[in-house]
Amino acid sequence: MSKLIIEGQNTLSGEVKISGAKNSAVALLPAAILAKKKSVIYNVPEISDIDYLIEIMELLNCKIEHKDDALIIDSSSVVNKPIPEELSIQMRASYYFMGALLARYKKVEISFPGGCSIGARPIDIHLKGFEELGATVEINKNRYKITADKLIGKKIYLDFPSVGATINIMLAAVGAKGTTIIENAAMEPEIVNVASFLINMGVKILGAGTKRIEIEGKEDLDRGVVDVFPDRIESGTYIIIGALLGDNLRINGIIKEHVEALLLKLKDIGVKYNIDGDSITISKCNNIKPTHIKTLIFPGFATDLQQPITTLLTQAKGKSIIEETIYENRFKNTIDLNKMGANTRIITNNKLEVIGPTPLKGTKVNATDLRGGASLLIAGLIAQGETVIDNCDVILRGYGFLEEKLTSIGAKIKITE
Ligand code: EPZ
Repeated sequence: MSKLIIEGQNTLSGEVKISGAKNSAVALLPAAILAKKKSVIYNVPEISDIDYLIEIMELLNCKIEHKDDALIIDSSSVVNKPIPEELSIQMRASYYFMGALLARYKKVEISFPGGCSIGARPIDIHLKGFEELGATVEINKNRYKITADKLIGKKIYLDFPSVGATINIMLAAVGAKGTTIIENAAMEPEIVNVASFLINMGVKILGAGTKRIEIEGKEDLDRGVVDVFPDRIESGTYIIIGALLGDNLRINGIIKEHVEALLLKLKDIGVKYNIDGDSITISKCNNIKPTHIKTLIFPGFATDLQQPITTLLTQAKGKSIIEETIYENRFKNTIDLNKMGANTRIITNNKLEVIGPTPLKGTKVNATDLRGGASLLIAGLIAQGETVIDNCDVILRGYGFLEEKLTSIGAKIKITE
């Protein structure tokens, strides 16, 4: 497993560019299977999750060309076959092959990873949506076989506005006869990104980004062309780093509306920044006020920024409370944060207390999950001395060119095998 070695307390300045969003790209690639001609996806992030998806798609006989940051995907000769377990269990987002292959072939066989370190993360809402469209779901341990003679559009109400389920049902609905309406849909920007790709292929979709999405099923889709949106979680992570160590650090290629909840919270706690167009310039705040964070569905405070902002709040002058309402087990990073000198305490299974400011000291720590790893990375950047993060591959899943980007703005960081 790779290790991340960080020498802390270096001021960070200069410019850094945000990459394409992992959580859009991992849905856009499987969605390209719907078009029977060559599609193009621009601004694809350089992260390991994409490599896994490409491996699965090439196994299904997609022809994929790389051209700068674009992928040219020819799905004209796709062969639908069971997706091997060793590939599909590498990442959760392999579940998007369910909606895409069900739409095009009315059949998909795939193994699916169970929960992970932030929670059980079932896919019952996805499966219920497929059944509502007329599919039959057979589950044998973690092997899923989903088939349908035909899919008929209908009104589907999501028990929870799940991002993955909204996208997966939207993909399946493309292969359904008639109109599907998704009520209580998720409103995250990733949904709008995927819908724009499908609309470009000729699918009629109304309401993406709202709680109610209407999809008109359509066969023989044209090629699609789409730009992956900037990654709002990578943006938020670098903004938080800037608030702790920046000296006019300029972060380029953000979409302000996608990080609004974080920006408003940072203003509340005394962090100053300047936004011009798609760039934000931010410097270290020497007087961070404590606050109450409550993670919510979009446009509320993103759960994926809960662990990164926890590290920031270890430097606030007083007691902060963090409430995690999306996942049941997303505080594991605090074990190692406390090992570095933070003063955090889990009050209930979804409430965390953080008392600051506490100077952090570098030591050996372990990344339990992607955003927990990001929180330890930020801790290492502000800690006195050297921090070694084990299992840092999980961080590289969601942060492209991490070593290059951080080094270019003055961090002392390296990745070793
Ligand atoms: C997406 O996961 C993101 N991943 C997550 O980002 C993100 O945290 C999450 O949305 C919420 O914004 C990708 O897009 C690949 P959900 P997803 O379905 O779709 C429960 C990261 O760090 N649920 O909205 O899996 C679920 O257990 C990752 O980049 C069900 O109960 O999220 C969770 O508690 C982490 N049944 C909650 O809903 C279901 O069928 C939110 O899940 C589906 C979800």
